[in-house]
Amino acid sequence: MIIKEKLIAPLNAQIQSEFTASAQYIAIAVYFDDQSLPELAGFFYRQADEERMHAMKFIHFMLDAGVKPIIPPVPELRNDFSSAADAVQYALDQELKVTDQINNLVSTAVAEGDHTTNNFLQWFVTEQVEEVSTMSTLLQTIKHAGNNLLLVEDYVRRHPQHAETADSEPTA
Ligand code: FEO
Repeated sequence: MIIKEKLIAPLNAQIQSEFTASAQYIAIAVYFDDQSLPELAGFFYRQADEERMHAMKFIHFMLDAGVKPIIPPVPELRNDFSSAADAVQYALDQELKVTDQINNLVSTAVAEGDHTTNNFLQWFVTEQVEEVSTMSTLLQTIKHAGNNLLLVEDYVRRHPQHAETADSEPTA
């Protein structure tokens, strides 16, 4: 087997984290949609698609390596938020947690001498820098905007690179 035995459970756990992030971002998008903030809603619907794509990358990697992945249940999600900043802070915390998980996966892969999995994970190492940066910037923008979330709507509309897929080239 190409993937070392010790990596299988953490890889399956990561599939769950990515699907959870996807569903959680839909819940955040719905929160914004319900508040009639379509740009912020659209941003999180697109982030949700991206997280699903991340989960699918893990699934295909495991299948390609001859390991059958386990498709997990998604744990309970947060559907209620006290403010836009609260929702985006929650998203940022989630991204920081995923970054830790990816780092732990890499550490296990290195310890096990599993260069195949380590190589696969490097895309996610780079991706997490982008994800944390995007969410931090959005949170800062919301804090700058104070009570006027229409300024944030305008910001998201004018900065589509923050909502594109990981494989896209950023636009100026
Ligand atoms: Fe797939 Fe946003 O981490």
